Parts: sequence; structure tokens; C-alpha cells
Amino acid sequence: MPWMEIANNLPLMIESHQLRVRVDEMPLLSCHLLKGHREQYLAHLLLSFITMGYVWQEGEKNIPKVLPRNLALPFVEVSQNLGLPPILVHSDFVLSNWKKKDPDGPLEIRNLDIIVSLPGGESLKGFILVTLLVEKAAVPGIKALTQAINAVLQSSEDELLQALKQMRTSVVDMIKALRQMHDYVDPAIFYAVIRIFLSGWKDNPAIPEGLIYEGVSEEPLKYSGGSAAQSTVFHAFDELLGVCHSKESTAFLHRMREYMPPSHRAFIEEIHSAPSLREYILSSGSCLLREAYNQCVMALAELRSCHINIVAKYVLTGATKAKDGGLSPLPGTPQALAARGTGGTAVFNFLKSVRDTTMEGIIKQC
Ligand code: HEM
Ligand code: ALA
Repeated sequence: MPWMEIANNLPLMIESHQLRVRVDEMPLLSCHLLKGHREQYLAHLLLSFITMGYVWQEGEKNIPKVLPRNLALPFVEVSQNLGLPPILVHSDFVLSNWKKKDPDGPLEIRNLDIIVSLPGGESLKGFILVTLLVEKAAVPGIKALTQAINAVLQSSEDELLQALKQMRTSVVDMIKALRQMHDYVDPAIFYAVIRIFLSGWKDNPAIPEGLIYEGVSEEPLKYSGGSAAQSTVFHAFDELLGVCHSKESTAFLHRMREYMPPSHRAFIEEIHSAPSLREYILSSGSCLLREAYNQCVMALAELRSCHINIVAKYVLTGATKAKDGGLSPLPGTPQALAARGTGGTAVFNFLKSVRDTTMEGIIKQC
């Protein structure tokens, strides 16, 4: 399978500047023989990694204007089948990109590996797997969220209290998982090597006009780069708690929903259209419920504060450490990403606004 062969050797091919040549020689394959959603997601995973490697092989220098048809056509085809954009998304980078070393062993970092890689070695692997562990820690919280909605529907205060407590515990566990970033990811490598391969061709000054997908459109297309802003779980908690972000932040976050698998998008919309938890708690007059709700809001804001600290370390300090470090196989440290997230936001303004508006969700105690 030519895609698999190339995808299995991405770091080496990129570092030896061979990937573009190999992709140009790749046969044009169609996706119609792919069976079921597992094979389709695998194809999206492989083609998205190959695409990021192809575009960023030479760093910010010499960026191609065109994605060749033997890559562009099947990538757009499988993307349409899955309802995803034809660029690397969070569900490729993290959710589809892991396997257990021992299939009977636990879902813990020492028993996990990634499936497809890019330059960045152990730090890249750590970045992906720690993010996966944050998602894993969110699972009981998502289950509790559905219980909370049912409890509101059935006006069951006891059940709601239980569900909110479980949700808070899960968010606290997400914070603990997120902090493991420090143990597994080197800031200089993250900044100099890893970030650029997540960058997209929208809101990115290095590639302002977008990218032509040969055989798909004569006009360049624009897609945002990969970012955990595309993670479903934060959107789900925000919707349940009724957290309202600023107009600008909401516009970006809602656009990121287009970069999620359609079933995830539908899940968030369903939470949005359920009866309002916030209204229920306000009108119940229960101080216990208010307290449990506020604990969830505070934990979510704390998770966002912890994330901001990590971004400060990996993006700001990472930039200083990466300077002239000769760490990257690419010519020169990326410049366009100094002030932008890989998703294209003005990083700290955006992240602080989202954290602060989360805190504004707090209901005054009785
Ligand atoms: C957004 C950086 C790890 C969840 C962002 C943004 C940046 C960023 C720059 C702004 C959007 C953009 O333009 O891309 C980082 C860095 C990380 C990291 C440097 C680690 C080295 C994580 C992890 C998660 C996460 C592990 C959890 C799954 C989010 C969320 C947003 C976001 C949910 C959207 C804003 C919000 O809802 O608060 N991140 N991130 N990030 N990131 Fe991260
Ligand atoms: N979104 C993360 C960044 O901007 C990966 O670095």
C-alpha cells in the first residue's frame, strides 16, 4: 500500500528532503474500495500526515502552491465521505493515532504508541499521547454530562448532584493528565520542529493565499491548521454549563466544530438543544446544586488556566530556547507561528478571553 509505505517513513523522508519527490511519484488511488469507517479514518490519518509533511518539508521557505492530484484527489474524496476537511485535524493527530503495545495491557502511556509520526521524535510522541490521556480523562465527564441532562429532564436533583460531582472529578483528572506534558515534551523541540507541521493554510501569514488542491479546484483553498480547539470535550462541557464566550472567540470555536467528525458535532448540538442546565439550577433554588455547578465551572476555568501556563512555556519559552539551537531539520526556525497558534488565533488574547468568560459562568451563591 503506497500511502502506508510513505506514511511509515515520514520523519526520515522529510529530514532527507525526499518526501515531495516520493509523493510526486505516488500512484493515483481511489478510495472507493475502502471498507467501513475504520479504513476511511485510517486513510484520512495517513493522507493528512503526508499532506502536512509535503507542504512543510522545507519549513517556511519554498512552500508549494499546489498539492499534487495523486494526493489531493483521494484526500478530498475520503474527506467528503467522512464529513471532514482535507487537512490534518485533531481527530487524525490524536484520536485515531494510537495503539496499545500489548493489546491486553492498560491504556496507559507506557503501553501506548502512535501509528503515524512526523519529525520531533519522542517529544512528538509525548505530545500526541499526553493529549490522548487528557481525552481519556474526559470520558467519565462526558458520561456524567449525559446523566446530568437526563437528571434535568426527569427533575431529579439527587441524580443531578451526583452527575455534576462526577463531572468535576473528571475535569480535575484532565488537569492532572495535561500537566504530564512537562514530563514528555521538550519546549525547544516543540517550538522548532513540531508546531509547523500542524500549521494550516488559513490565517497563516506564511501561506496567505491558501493551497491549490490539483484536480479539485483551480482556486486555492484555505483550511485552518490542527489544534486541540477541535477537541469535542471542551465544547461539550461549555454547552452543558451554558458558558458564553465572546463573539470573536465563539466564531473561531464554532468554526473548529467543522473540523470534528460529524457525529461529534451532532453530539455538541444535541447538548445545546437540551433544556438549559443553568436555568434549571437557577430556578431550583437549591444551594447544593449551585455549589456543584460552580465547582464544575471553576474546574473548567482552572483547566484552561493550566493550559495557558503550558502554552506560555511551550510557545513563548520554547521560542527563546529554540533560537539558533540547530534543532530543526528545516531551514530556519518558523517565524509565522511566533504570534499565532497553529489554529490561527492570536494565542493569548484568545485563550485568556475563553478562560475569563468560563469564570463568568459562576452563579452567585445563595
Ligand atoms: C487552543 C496551544 C495542548 C486543548 C490552543 C491554542 C493554542 C494552544 C496556541 C489556540 C488555538 C490555536 O490557534 O491553535 C497548545 C500547546 C499545547 C496544547 C502549546 C501543548 C504543548 C493542549 C491539550 C489540550 C488542549 C493537551 C487538551 C486536549 C485546547 C483547547 C483549545 C486550545 C480546548 C481551545 C481553547 C479553549 O477551549 O480553551 N492550544 N495546546 N491543548 N487547546 Fe491547546
Ligand atoms: N495549537 C498548538 C500551537 O499553536 C499546537 O502550538
